[in-house]
Amino acid sequence: MNLETDSLAPVIGKRMALVKQLNKSLKCESSQMIHPSIQDQFGRTFNYLRLALNEQCNLRCMYCMPEEGINFRSEEKLLSTNEIFQLFYLTSKMGVSKIRLTGGEPLLRKDLVPIIQFANSLDGVESIHLTTNGLLLLKYIHELESAGLSGINISLDTLESNKYKTITRRDGLISVLDGLDKAIKSSIRSIKLNVVAMRDFNDDELMDFVALTKENDITVRFIELMPFDSHQIWKTGKFYGADHIVEDIMNQVDELSPIGGSRTEHHVFQVNDYKGKVAVIPAYSRSLCGECNRFRITADGKLLNCLYSQDETNLRDAMRIGKTDIEIEDMIRNTMKKKYKDGWEAQNQGNDNRESMTQIGG
Ligand code: GTP
Ligand code: 5AD
Ligand code: SF4
Repeated sequence: MNLETDSLAPVIGKRMALVKQLNKSLKCESSQMIHPSIQDQFGRTFNYLRLALNEQCNLRCMYCMPEEGINFRSEEKLLSTNEIFQLFYLTSKMGVSKIRLTGGEPLLRKDLVPIIQFANSLDGVESIHLTTNGLLLLKYIHELESAGLSGINISLDTLESNKYKTITRRDGLISVLDGLDKAIKSSIRSIKLNVVAMRDFNDDELMDFVALTKENDITVRFIELMPFDSHQIWKTGKFYGADHIVEDIMNQVDELSPIGGSRTEHHVFQVNDYKGKVAVIPAYSRSLCGECNRFRITADGKLLNCLYSQDETNLRDAMRIGKTDIEIEDMIRNTMKKKYKDGWEAQNQGNDNRESMTQIGG
């Protein structure tokens, strides 16, 4: 991803120039156009775009995908750099102010840095975030910092190297911890740890994770297991509900004060005098849906109006057959208008046929 040496540099350079040109003409056109914001029938406004950059990953977390991987889509089925730029441009006009890049593993995508730079150049986009497994963070942290990344959420479910190997089916704890350390020391202002909480696996490590917030201004987030893997491991007794996690933390820590957090962080605390925060995300119990402000685009360009939605709106093909920007904007608004009240209703609309979280982007 070093733009000086990467063989993609000339291609991306040309693309950036083309997109700048495209931007100029779009801006002339768009000065006369109105771009209503994205809303649903329950009065929720959507200003947070989560876009998956790929499905591939350099780990094989047992709650995410099988050892042999999944039926990954071929590259031409994924959104191209230009298609991503176009979607960022259009959604920024419709009020998107926060963009999160997910995967798969987004650090495996060669054009990640120009994608961040482009998002940063858009009026209205206030912050660009990354959700990563952290394995390659040490290598790329300076480029991410220079590109203007606002935040990194790092997935790390255990601080013990044997357990790390069991859960991810790969080695790498040391690399992730080194990456985390560099991220904390960087100028990137928001650093969070995503810990998928599992019974009889890492429930004995809650306090070790909480201890990381003593000297570090990070947020450690315990996340409920969700049902998006083909093996459905959440049904095997590992599910550890948000209320129980909160209870267990409260039983083990005396000086805990409630504090504010992001919209997925439904319960947020700070241990007195600690620099960081501790949060619990009820990703399965879904008590967070009323506040939802987000929409998702999968790596192959399908718009999802809920993490648990089965309905997909194919924005990639719409762009490829030459639909106009106004038509694509309307597709986005119409899909979001139809959003169900919460993730339970969305899930009840059909059978879940996902093989992995990477097909959604998280
Ligand atoms: P912030 O922007 O820092 O709040 O991050 P985030 O929690 O929105 O994003 P991240 O990618 O770090 O996701 C953390 C966990 O929350 C993952 O397990 C996600 O799948 C889950 N999550 C993210 N958005 C939603 C959502 O809309 N609904 C549910 N149920 N879970 C979500
Ligand atoms: N349940 C809960 N969280 C999951 N993630 C991936 N799969 C699951 C699952 N089945 C988490 C990752 C990452 C975030 C994007 O989603 O650990 O932190
Ligand atoms: Fe890779 Fe994230 Fe899935 Fe783990 S959860 S296999 S890190 S995509």
